Amino acid sequence: MQTQKILITSQKGGVGKSSIAANLAAAYAVQHQRRTVLLDLDHQGTSSKWIQDGQLAHRPGLLRAMPIEVPNDKGAGVATLHAKDGLRRAGRDAEAVIADLTWNDVLHKEFLFDFELVLVPTSLSPIELASSLEFISRFRSIFNASDRPAPELVIVPSRVQNENEYLEVMGRMDFPVAFHLAPPIPYSSLAQESYRREFFLHSQDETLRHAFVRFSNAIERFASLRQRKAESRALTISHRVSTEAGLLREFVAARAARSAPTALNPALNPALNPVALSDQVAPGEGLRVNGAGGRPIAASLVRARVNVGTAASLASAASATSAANAKAASQPSKLFAFLRRG
Ligand SMILES: Nc1ncnc2c1ncn2[C@@H]1O[C@H](COP(=O)(O)OP(=O)(O)OP(=O)(O)O)[C@@H](O)[C@H]1O
Ligand SMILES: [Mg+2]
Repeated sequence: MQTQKILITSQKGGVGKSSIAANLAAAYAVQHQRRTVLLDLDHQGTSSKWIQDGQLAHRPGLLRAMPIEVPNDKGAGVATLHAKDGLRRAGRDAEAVIADLTWNDVLHKEFLFDFELVLVPTSLSPIELASSLEFISRFRSIFNASDRPAPELVIVPSRVQNENEYLEVMGRMDFPVAFHLAPPIPYSSLAQESYRREFFLHSQDETLRHAFVRFSNAIERFASLRQRKAESRALTISHRVSTEAGLLREFVAARAARSAPTALNPALNPALNPVALSDQVAPGEGLRVNGAGGRPIAASLVRARVNVGTAASLASAASATSAANAKAASQPSKLFAFLRRG
């Protein structure tokens, strides 16, 4: 099994990075039964101390912490080399590496390419959301890279007081890159008290416990999907469709009715396209959202993805894309399509 590498980061302090990193690592070991390393890239060592001291009811021997000193005073090259080397060593004998890092601009942005997922925790407060948005915007060239497998962004609503509020708030935001919206992690006073003692998946706070299990399941699924995508040599064609609901129906119906090759028609051959349109999952399960095009997100955008498995179908893929492009050209503000190598 290929090692899943997940980074939890942001530049803002106190947003819950270390709590999420330590608890996600514990969940990977206990729930998903993976040999897991918590890679602590922060000087404070908050998350690694939690792993070292926290009680796991059935400590499976699958979990360990690796704190790494990233020197900030020796320039970008040295800092990035240290971080990359730590990640390589952590991944040597692990099935999952969960890294905790307060982003520091001394690191090269390209370090993010070493991960499948980049989780950015944020509360719903306007100040934190604005800061997260600014942070994500600075990395858009990494998340939007098409010349190599790009890490996928996961926004993690953290310390959420009102569950009903989070989709509404996130739906109003306009993000410059596509992202997964993780199930929220609720605010809990027990979350604070459990530091270095126990893990959220065994918390006495039932709401926190259930939410965290749901959260870690979603993260594992996002990471697995991302791995499958990278492993597949197939060309990936993505159509991003902004739904004006009527237009989306029209688009989906047109695809279903098209007599073009089955490989291009997820409605006719879902096996070739396991994730097509399945991105419309229940909000609590995590949601894949496209933020490009200046449109609001959440329910108003949907992504359809087609994996084309054979070289023979590439020509048809190209012609179908041309058709989609022609349609896009006639409705430029509503629909666009693009080709991307997976
Ligand atoms: N779900 C939660 N509910 C309530 N409090 C929380 C929750 N998650 C974290 N906290 C608290 O928020 C504070 C910051 O959390 P944490 O240390 O995990 O954030 P951080 O982003 O790693 O901070 P730093 O930037 O200092 O490394 C801590 O006091 C922690 O106990
Ligand atoms: Mg921390």
